[in-house]
Amino acid sequence: MNFRLTEEHEMIRKMVRDFARNEVAPTAAERDEEEQFDRGIFNKMAELGLTGIPWPEEYGGIGSDYLAYCIAVEELSRVCASTGVTLSAHTSLAGWPIYKFGSEEQKQKYLKPMALGEKMGAYGLTEPGSGSDAGGMKTTAREDGDHYILNGSKIFITNGGEAEIYVVFALTDPESRQKGTTAFIIESDFPGFSVGKKEKKLGIRSSPTTEIIFEDCRVPKENVLGKVGEGFKIAMMTLDGGRNGIAAQAVGIAQGALDAAVDYAKDRHQFGKPIAAQQGVGFKLADMATQIEASRLLTYQAAWLESEGLPYGKESAMSKLLAGDTAMKVTTEAVQIFGGYGYTKEYPVERFMRDAKITQIYEGTQEIQRLVISRMLTK
Ligand code: CAA
Repeated sequence: MNFRLTEEHEMIRKMVRDFARNEVAPTAAERDEEEQFDRGIFNKMAELGLTGIPWPEEYGGIGSDYLAYCIAVEELSRVCASTGVTLSAHTSLAGWPIYKFGSEEQKQKYLKPMALGEKMGAYGLTEPGSGSDAGGMKTTAREDGDHYILNGSKIFITNGGEAEIYVVFALTDPESRQKGTTAFIIESDFPGFSVGKKEKKLGIRSSPTTEIIFEDCRVPKENVLGKVGEGFKIAMMTLDGGRNGIAAQAVGIAQGALDAAVDYAKDRHQFGKPIAAQQGVGFKLADMATQIEASRLLTYQAAWLESEGLPYGKESAMSKLLAGDTAMKVTTEAVQIFGGYGYTKEYPVERFMRDAKITQIYEGTQEIQRLVISRMLTK
């Protein structure tokens, strides 16, 4: 048993921390306010190799592992959760299923430019009428010679409109629900594909979230990902890992809020001493740090399990459940420690609090994580 990170992990953490501090943090508040996505930041992440952390070099990656990827998402989210989720959706929701289920041609054609950061990835599962009940999707894919014709729409697509490559799920056999679902790789310039409404959101406001629409969208059969009818399992297995990326995002958000709260509590004097020395505040800081450490350990463990090729679905659901709740609690307490100032945009804690909420909702609500965990315990 060894809890020490390897030299490679420490090196990646330092590189991402420096990058986040110097290149991401300075514009985080402004991008949040303006709801502006900055492709330049993604391009810089590509230069550092961050867009392909767990993929082998032959597919454009840096050949590291899922723990290194989680550390990167955590460090980015510590200053800007929007940048954290951009990388998370690109890597675990779009890159992962292509890496695991793609043919060699698909990996060369799609995963490689994604890993190199020349193209961005996104994932489309949720529909207006099917969120938690992902199997209730209505988007269809009808066979037509050497193509499939897709009709329907997907919502809440992270990286929507910015991504060039979308992994999406549609019914090739509408009678069979989950067993009639197939995964497809869609290029944004396929005829019949378009980007719909962009959401205005409470948090992660500089990460674009859009609808994507398929109107007789022609998709070559070679773009079927995995086997016809295997799509639901691919969607679920993708989320197993994706959820741990969100846990890493949540740990980063919580750590960012704690960093700010500790600095403030040491500086701010009331009743003749720093508020950190008042037990009411000191104990809050202690609880926040403890919850973050527990969440981080669970997140790293799930990432380590995945890197080792061991089962990780239950741990990944647990890490998102714990870390998402931790992020919400810790950021709320951080605002409380800042008092009236915390409620203003003068300090970053209100942004962290708004950003934290989504980690309890996307890639499966906290209630769905409990369902996944309890089913695994009892199956
Ligand atoms: N791995 C492999 N196979 C799995 C699996 C997994 N993790 N989970 C389910 N399956 C398989 C089952 O074994 C079953 O196969 P068989 O019939 O062959 O046994 C099949 O899939 C159907 O499984 P269930 O009966 O469990 O399906 P269900 O309809 O009860 O749904 C659910 C299960 C867990 C509730 C699922 O619908 C779910 O995860 N819902 C939440 C969806 C979600 O997380 N959405 C987020 C979208 S992404 C996002 O947030 C946007 C973004 O861009 C960030």
